[in-house]
Amino acid sequence: MSTPKNIILCGFMGTGKSTVGRLVATRIGWRFVDTDRLIERRTGRTIKTIFAEEGEAAFRAIEAKLCTEIPVWRDVVIATGGGIVLNPVNRANLCRAGLVVCLEAPAEEINARVGHSSDRPLIAAEDPLTRIQRLLEERAEAYGALPNHINTAGYTIEEAAERVIALWKAG
Ligand code: S3P
Repeated sequence: MSTPKNIILCGFMGTGKSTVGRLVATRIGWRFVDTDRLIERRTGRTIKTIFAEEGEAAFRAIEAKLCTEIPVWRDVVIATGGGIVLNPVNRANLCRAGLVVCLEAPAEEINARVGHSSDRPLIAAEDPLTRIQRLLEERAEAYGALPNHINTAGYTIEEAAERVIALWKAG
């Protein structure tokens, strides 16, 4: 069986997609792309500014367009924005693009990692933990629809990366 052409890490904010993805890319010698950073480079604006000036719907449209490009990429480890998989068309495009893995972590852990980050507009709230819990509930079905799941709370970054690589090697 041939190994998948790309590795796509999905999941909620703060589950380790970029950190783990970068390490996976280094270990298997692939390129690493973070969809949020790519959107920022292409638009010349930060995610925070896009949300503030054009609203979430405009950001989702940019994300959806990017997802249509990914199936033709090769040998890339991709860390996706946490909300990208809410759109089932994006999910289908990402699944066509390679191995999709959903990283998970408990709400408290996510809050400790990114709860106070000012550049994530959806959790920039007075009580980020409650906001994170609510979003996780709302998104449970979308994340649950993804094919592979790794709870990063139980692992070091290296261990999580090795789990991703093992899934990739298994095809
Ligand atoms: C979002 C997650 C963010 C970013 C944007 C919206 C979300 O990416 O795309 O703030 O809806 O979960 P990270 O998951 O990389 O933080």
